[in-house]
Amino acid sequence: MKVAVLGAQGRMGSVVCKAIEASDDLELIAQLDVHNNISELSDLQVDVIVDFTTPDVVMEHISYALQTSTHIVVGTSGFTSEKLHSIEIEAQRKPEVGVLIVPNFSLGAILLAKLAKKAAPYFESVEIIELHHERKLDAPSQTARFTAEEIATSREGKVNPDATRGSKEARGLEVAGIPIHSIRLPGLFAHEEIIFGNAGEILTLRHDSTDRLAYMPGVLSAIREIPHHPGFHVGLDSILDL
Ligand SMILES: NC(=O)c1ccc[n+]([C@@H]2O[C@H](COP(=O)([O-])OP(=O)(O)OC[C@H]3O[C@@H](n4cnc5c(N)ncnc54)[C@H](O)[C@@H]3O)[C@@H](O)[C@H]2O)c1
Repeated sequence: MKVAVLGAQGRMGSVVCKAIEASDDLELIAQLDVHNNISELSDLQVDVIVDFTTPDVVMEHISYALQTSTHIVVGTSGFTSEKLHSIEIEAQRKPEVGVLIVPNFSLGAILLAKLAKKAAPYFESVEIIELHHERKLDAPSQTARFTAEEIATSREGKVNPDATRGSKEARGLEVAGIPIHSIRLPGLFAHEEIIFGNAGEILTLRHDSTDRLAYMPGVLSAIREIPHHPGFHVGLDSILDL
C-alpha cells in the first residue's frame, strides 16, 4: 500500500514516516511539508494520505483527497462539530473514499473515553482537564472535545449543578454541557483527566501519553484499514473492533 504523509517534518509526521518505513507492508512514497504543494501528489499513485499538519490547512487536504478519490487518515486536531459536519457532507459526494478523523490514536485514550461513557449515567456532575505541552496550537484538545461529546450521549440530559455567579471564564469552555479546562506547560506531553462527582464521592479517570510512539500502532492500523471502510468516520474505534 502506497502512503503519503503530510506534515512529514513535524513532531508527529516524522515519527509516523519512520513507523511506515519500518513496516513490511506499507510503502512511504511522499513526505510533504509546508514548502511543498499537495498537487505534487497528483503524479503518484497514492493509496492513503496521512495528515498531521495544522488546523488551518487540514480542510484543504481533506478536500484534495476527496477530489482525487484518495483515502485519507487525519490525525490533525482542531475540528469543531460544525467542521466535522461539513466534511461529512462533502464526503457523501464521494462514498467510495474513506475519510477517517482520529482525535487520538492511543489505545489508552480510546479506552478512557469508553470507560467515561460507561460511568457517566451514575454521576451528577463531570468536568474534564486536559494537559499538553506548550507548543500545542489548539485548545481544548480534540480528544477532550470528543470525550465530552461521547460522555454527553450517556448523561440523559443531566446538567452539572453550579452556583457560580457573574463571569464564568474561570469555569472552563463548555462542550456538550461539560466544562473542559486546558493546561499548557513545558514538561507535559498529552494527558486527560475526567472527574465525576456525586454527593460524598469522586471518581477520577486519567490517561497519560508520555511518548509519540504510543500513537503508532493506531496510525498503522488506520492506514491498513481505511481502504476497506469507505465513507466518513470519526475515531479509531469506528473502523477497528476495540
Ligand atoms: N490524533 C492524535 O492522536 C494526535 C497526536 C498528537 C498530535 N496530534 C495533532 O497532530 C497535529 C500535528 O502535531 P505535531 O505535534 O506534529 O505538530 P508540528 O507543528 O510539529 O507539525 C506540523 C507540521 O505540519 C507542517 N505543515 C504546515 N502546513 C502544511 C501544509 N500546508 N502542508 C504540509 N505540511 C504542513 C508544519 O511545517 C509542521 O512540520 C496537531 O494538530 C496535533 O494536535 C494528534
